[in-house]
Amino acid sequence: MDQDFQDLKGTALREIDEAPEVIELDKLRVKYLGRTGLVSKLSEGMKDLPKEERPRMGKLLNELRTTLNSAFETKNDFFSARADISAVQDLDETLPATPLRIGALHPLTRLQDRAVQILRRLGFALASGPDIETEWHCFDALNTPPDHPARNESDTFYFPDGHLLRTHTSTVQIRTMLAQTPPVRVISPGAAYRRDEIDATHLSQFNQLEGLYVSKGVSVPDLKGTLEYFVRELLGSTVETRMRPHFFPFTEPSYEIDVRMPGVNAGRWMELLGCGMVDPAVFEQINERRGDNAYDPEVWTGFAFGMGLDRLAMTLFNLPDIRLLIENDQRFLAQFAS
Ligand code: PHE
Repeated sequence: MDQDFQDLKGTALREIDEAPEVIELDKLRVKYLGRTGLVSKLSEGMKDLPKEERPRMGKLLNELRTTLNSAFETKNDFFSARADISAVQDLDETLPATPLRIGALHPLTRLQDRAVQILRRLGFALASGPDIETEWHCFDALNTPPDHPARNESDTFYFPDGHLLRTHTSTVQIRTMLAQTPPVRVISPGAAYRRDEIDATHLSQFNQLEGLYVSKGVSVPDLKGTLEYFVRELLGSTVETRMRPHFFPFTEPSYEIDVRMPGVNAGRWMELLGCGMVDPAVFEQINERRGDNAYDPEVWTGFAFGMGLDRLAMTLFNLPDIRLLIENDQRFLAQFAS
């Protein structure tokens, strides 16, 4: 049996060493170490041995298994290493890599950031409010009567419980005045919602930038001077502005400011923002809700303004369709990467 044992070990090691591929190696593993393999057969011979021989043979058999196992393992490692090398051998490290696409700020974000920066330099602090509002914050507090067209179901998104999606960011004027006493100087960029038919110039969600300044002795020249400065900083020194009388329920008097720039919108006037002096009726609503006289209209005056960002972005960036702003088309957005 000793001889069989030595023969088997020699042949096995040689065959393992010579196995050309993994498949042959796997076959050899079955042939030698499988349940009915040669090593098992050899150990069946044990029962014919004299009792005192058995422990020695048992030990030799165990050693044989260990030796073969490690020979298989070594050969297997060799095959894996060889496969790794061949997987990368045709790789040309000098070829240019796939370019990484660098992200960019959305054109609306860029415009909004610039507007906010200018107003912050003027001392305006950021304020915010919820998109889901009460009718009171969106309309009543802003002196908007129940029969005003903006309050129609057809213009405004109402929830079954009577809440609504704010139709303008002017709600933040109200929230700010409820939360703090004058003087106040805040701006608030944010979303507003209206039930518009969506087309090339309308979305049902758009972006506004609201401003409110309340202090002592604030008057129309402050409004005009501040907003003209703001517009020049935002659009450059070639911009012309004009102020047209307008109507908003929550400001009196009210205006719209139009701008005109050479080479933009074919040199035509375009509407930029709505503004006006805070209507005393708004201060009175605030006082009533606050339960004090913090916004005494005899003491405090102020101006407010609200600007739409989407249409302005369309004009400045020459966009033919407002929907480009929300479609997340990489071909469109990549043009704004600098
Ligand atoms: N909230 C008005 C709008 O959405 C704009 C505005 C804001 C007008 C503040 C006056 C003062 O059209």
